[in-house]
Amino acid sequence: MSIVETIKARRTVRAFRSDPIADDVVNELLEAATWAPSHFNAQPWEFALIGRQTRDQLRPIFRDMLENGPLKNPEVPEDKKAMMRAFMQDFGGAPVMLAVSCPPATIPSDIVDYPLATGAAIQNLLLAAWERNIGGVWLSIGQHPAVKAALGVPEAHSVIGVLPLGYFDAAPPALPRTPAADKLKRLP
Ligand SMILES: Cc1cc2nc3c(=O)[nH]c(=O)nc-3n(C[C@H](O)[C@H](O)[C@H](O)COP(=O)(O)O)c2cc1C
Repeated sequence: MSIVETIKARRTVRAFRSDPIADDVVNELLEAATWAPSHFNAQPWEFALIGRQTRDQLRPIFRDMLENGPLKNPEVPEDKKAMMRAFMQDFGGAPVMLAVSCPPATIPSDIVDYPLATGAAIQNLLLAAWERNIGGVWLSIGQHPAVKAALGVPEAHSVIGVLPLGYFDAAPPALPRTPAADKLKRLP
């Protein structure tokens, strides 16, 4: 698959097979992440592989976040709620969970550059995973104080993504994209 084909084929996966991901494959994904660009090659990303004990702490926090958020929102369709309820039991049964964070900025430009570079690292990782038939979901739950505490991430750091990862049976259908032309303006 070409890089563009992989970019377009990648889907967010929220239900996983129980097959483990071999350590060397996890290491390949982490290594792919580190080839992301970053301002002055600062490489601000920090990775944490989430073990069972930490995951058991995260599960009820995540469940509360959904129950007090989208699950009680009458505008969220029932089929989406059913998917969330299944997923929140144990993060879709993902065999691997990874948190990706970055430290606080020390210069003003890094306020955006650190999180952006860390996001680029996450996208690299998700694409490298997809190439290996591994799916993932980028959860933006990391800035919740209880999640940060469970992950042992200092308050001043930013958790850019929590990523359940695993092999899967079927990729969900692609969600539509707005044509780039509709988002483009041409400056004189
Ligand atoms: C920064 C970011 C935060 C996201 N947060 C969540 C999340 O908290 N929960 C979730 O289920 N999906 C989350 N997603 C996944 C998006 O819902 C998904 O990427 C989007 O619907 C497009 O679907 P696709 O990835 O299959 O193309 C997040 C994605 C990004 C990039």
